Formats: sequence, C-alpha cells, structure tokens
Amino acid sequence: MSASGKQAGGGKGSGGGKGSGGGKPGSGGGKPGSGGGKPGSGERVLKVRVKTAKKRTAASTRWLARQLNDPYVRRTKAEGFRSRAAYKLIEIDEQYKLLTKGVRIVDLGAAPGGWCQVAAARTGSTDADPRIVAIDYLPVDALPGVVILQKDFLDEDAPAAIVAALGGGKADLVLSDMAAPATGHKKTDHLRIMHLCEVAAEFARDVLKPGGAFLAKVLRGGTENQLLADLKRDFAQVMHVKPPASRSDSAELYVLAKGFRGRSERDEPPAEGG
Ligand SMILES: C[S@@+](CC[C@H](N)C(=O)[O-])C[C@H]1O[C@@H](n2cnc3c(N)ncnc32)[C@H](O)[C@@H]1O
Repeated sequence: MSASGKQAGGGKGSGGGKGSGGGKPGSGGGKPGSGGGKPGSGERVLKVRVKTAKKRTAASTRWLARQLNDPYVRRTKAEGFRSRAAYKLIEIDEQYKLLTKGVRIVDLGAAPGGWCQVAAARTGSTDADPRIVAIDYLPVDALPGVVILQKDFLDEDAPAAIVAALGGGKADLVLSDMAAPATGHKKTDHLRIMHLCEVAAEFARDVLKPGGAFLAKVLRGGTENQLLADLKRDFAQVMHVKPPASRSDSAELYVLAKGFRGRSERDEPPAEGG
C-alpha cells in the first residue's frame, strides 16, 4: 500500500480497467467533472433493440439492451469518465454544492475512479497540492491530484492510513460509494452495505472538520432510517438523495449529512480515574 497515488495496478479484477472508457478522460468533448446537463437532452437517439442469441440468457439480453439504451452509459464513454457513477456525484453536487474549490475529500470505495475524476476536477486538486484521498481494495489507475490507497477500508489500520495520506489534517467531505459484490439476496446485500456505511459514518465523525459533510450509498431495506437517526445527532441536516443517474428500479439511495457539529462529549473516552 502506498500513499503516493501511484500503483502497480493490473492485478486481479483490475478496477482501473473496469469501465475505463478507453480514451483519455475528457477526450470525448466534455471535461471530466464539468458535466451536469441532462444526459440525452436535445439528443435524438434511436433505441437499440437487442436480439436474443443462442448463448445469451434472457437476463443478459435485458442487461445489454439497458446498457445500449442508457444515455448515461453513452455519455460516460464520450466524456471520458471511468464510471457511469460519476454522473451520480455530478448531479448531487449540482444540487448540494459539496465539491467547492480547495476542499479536502476522502473517497471510500473509489474504483475505477469516476468520483475521483469529478472531485479532482471540481476542487482543483493537483499533484502539488492533492486534496483527494481515495481508497479501494481494487486498483485505481493513477489520477492527477488524487492519493490512492489500495486497501480494504475495513482493515484495522485503514483509518490511520487515510489520515496519514491526508497529511494529518481533517477533511471537509467524506464520500462513500462502497458496495460489496451483490449476492442477489436482498436482505444480505442491504445489511452488508449498511455495515460499510456505518463504519464509514464513524470514520467521518473522526476525520471531518466541524461544518463538514458525509455522503454515502445505502440500499433501501429497512435499516437505513436508523442510520439517518444516528447521523441527525451529529449533523445539522440529514437527508436521503436519489440522483436521476441512480436507476429508478434500483434500491440504491444516498444519505447526505451536512453541517458536522464536531465530535460531541458523549463520544469522548471517559477520563482516566473518572
Ligand atoms: C460502485 S463501486 C464505486 C464506483 C466509484 N464511485 C466510481 O465512480 O468509479 C464500489 C466500490 O466499492 C469498493 N469496496 C467495497 N467494499 C470495500 C471495502 N471494504 N474497502 C474498500 N473498497 C470497497 C469496491 O471494490 C468497488 O470498487
């Protein structure tokens, strides 16, 4: 693991390759991070019909048809983003203005790096003064202005590694798009993502500056309101957000907590002998 932003990459399941879009980011026209218009707006696109094929299951035919007809997938390629997920952050930022110039950000579950591209572009992060620390157990190809840690966030030493990569300072924003590979069992997937989210929220309470914000992916499933209630004790404003780029048939939601009040006294360890 290194905090240098450079990685060996190319490992098993290389996140860097996943959805990397092939070209140089931004080469397709829009500057990464500058997007925000409605995908497909004003654009007349013919609907692609996918024929069933012998070796293709009905589910993969449906998946392929959805990919081919998704305006966000087209834009991801055209604008050089590494992931379709980039548009979720862009849309949330258009509404809530989280990515202002110079803010310091931690990006949890960053591979292949779409959110990092958006965050680096919008904060003006550079290698000389990196404002973004990203972590994933999958490799993320190097990106200017982003310090990349290839590590499991649930490892005991991960929080310290992130704080060290932040240069010991506090963060303005903690992002978590972490999701464990789906099992297909709704309850299990929900509980797994909620666990990641709770650990991320606890980490955010440790590293955020007063006034900071936390944005994390959850899945609808019953326990997300408990997380909201917990966050309300520490943040001035807490809400659920569903950006248009998040598919309407998906249980995915984002929880956004703004205006961190700072670590409260109840969180402090009891004084010795008291
Ligand atoms: C939906 S993807 C993130 C996409 C990313 N926001 C982007 O725009 O490219 C979720 C990521 O969470 C990562 N992840 C899940 N559990 C993790 C963990 N315990 N530690 C680090 N990363 C994790 C996965 O490896 C995966 O790359």
